[in-house]
Amino acid sequence: MSDKFTHIGSALSLEQDGKVVSLRCWIHRKRGQKELIFLILRDSTGQIQAIIKKDSEAWKEAEKITVESSCEITGKVKQDRRAPTGYELQVTKLKIVGLSEAFPIQKDFSEEYLRKVRHLWVRSTKLVPVFKIRSKIFEAIREFYTIKGYYEIQSPSFTKSASEGGSTLFKVDYFGEPAYLTQSWQLYAEALMFGLEKIYCIAPSFRAEKSRTRRHLSEYWHHEMETAWMEFDDLLKFQEELIIFIVWYVLKHCEKELKELGRDTSDLKKITAPFKRLKYKDALKMLGKSWGYDLTDDDERKLVADLGQLVFLTHFPRDMKAFYMKVDSKDKKVVLAADLLIPGVGETIGGSQRIDDEKELTESIKLFKLKPKDYDWYIDLRKYGSVPHSGFGLGMERLVMWLSGTEHIMDTIPFPRTKDRLEP
Ligand code: 4AD
Repeated sequence: MSDKFTHIGSALSLEQDGKVVSLRCWIHRKRGQKELIFLILRDSTGQIQAIIKKDSEAWKEAEKITVESSCEITGKVKQDRRAPTGYELQVTKLKIVGLSEAFPIQKDFSEEYLRKVRHLWVRSTKLVPVFKIRSKIFEAIREFYTIKGYYEIQSPSFTKSASEGGSTLFKVDYFGEPAYLTQSWQLYAEALMFGLEKIYCIAPSFRAEKSRTRRHLSEYWHHEMETAWMEFDDLLKFQEELIIFIVWYVLKHCEKELKELGRDTSDLKKITAPFKRLKYKDALKMLGKSWGYDLTDDDERKLVADLGQLVFLTHFPRDMKAFYMKVDSKDKKVVLAADLLIPGVGETIGGSQRIDDEKELTESIKLFKLKPKDYDWYIDLRKYGSVPHSGFGLGMERLVMWLSGTEHIMDTIPFPRTKDRLEP
């Protein structure tokens, strides 16, 4: 940005009161009277009301300017309690940069229509604060791992085999060979861990989800970590630390956005460790169900609501989870896996201690009716200095839903991909 121009966020301050500033911005609202035109100006940092008097040299352009037009505008900042953001701009100069046609989104449109014109809706005051919070969550995660001495490292998006079961695989044509879009970086992370020990990523994962729910996307952003020498109990403690850090970071940096979204943050301020640990078998008792019952989204949300805090649901039946999860030596029916359930959303993190023994892993692959030859390099890892290790995957959009108080996952990502939506 040229020095000549100020952002609205900086203009809204007592320091600027009485000073002349130039802004580059868009017209959010326009309303006129005989002798005065009122504009609400918007840029990425805020909004300010501008007033143009009939005798000003800006009047002609102000008459012409339409909602969503872009402009360069100069005026004197004046504190005014009646103005929506406490200040107004008494305009002396106005230059239209891009005159907007009649903007197709005005008021009260259906969700479906707003998703169709998503390329225009992404600038709305409903979505922009969510995207700002989303950005801060990405920042918080990177900061947390930097403090913890982790390496951020990437894995391929094209893969040969499934990590999370075949039912949600996206098949693609890879130079005439079948390939799949990745569901998780995990299998590659387990290879990288031997050299880097403490690693994480934030990358897209793909799931051919046929179900239409408010928490499933077919392409979502996946934060995953893998740690050498880490066992199950420490894995849960690590997740607690991470979640508390992110909550604290968002409360500290996103006060304005949370307010704009009307997100009551009193629940967030109360989050403390340890989170509740609930074994699958005890969850069944609470829900009045029997062994083998697969919890629904609603069950998960109910458990969190009933327990009044974040819940680690642990020790699931082996066949309900993934082939790579380590069996609990104290109870061979269950695996050392945990899903972290959060309010209003349910499962947001899925993690486990991994099988680190070659024979055990090969048997597990067969038990899951998979072909060991499709996993030969992954099995190979257990032959050369295998160690206990654990990791997890966190759905970024589900975390954004909770922290920003967004009802539907589609509104936490700029251009959502679902079974029914591939454009814009
Ligand atoms: O439980 P999942 O399938 O676990 C894995 O992929 C492991 N390999 C992760 C690991 O241990 N490295 O997925 C992890 C998380 C879920 O808890 C959920 O938050 C999110 O990814 N997730 C989805 N988010 C949005 N849309 C979908 N279709 C999702 N599927 C999973």
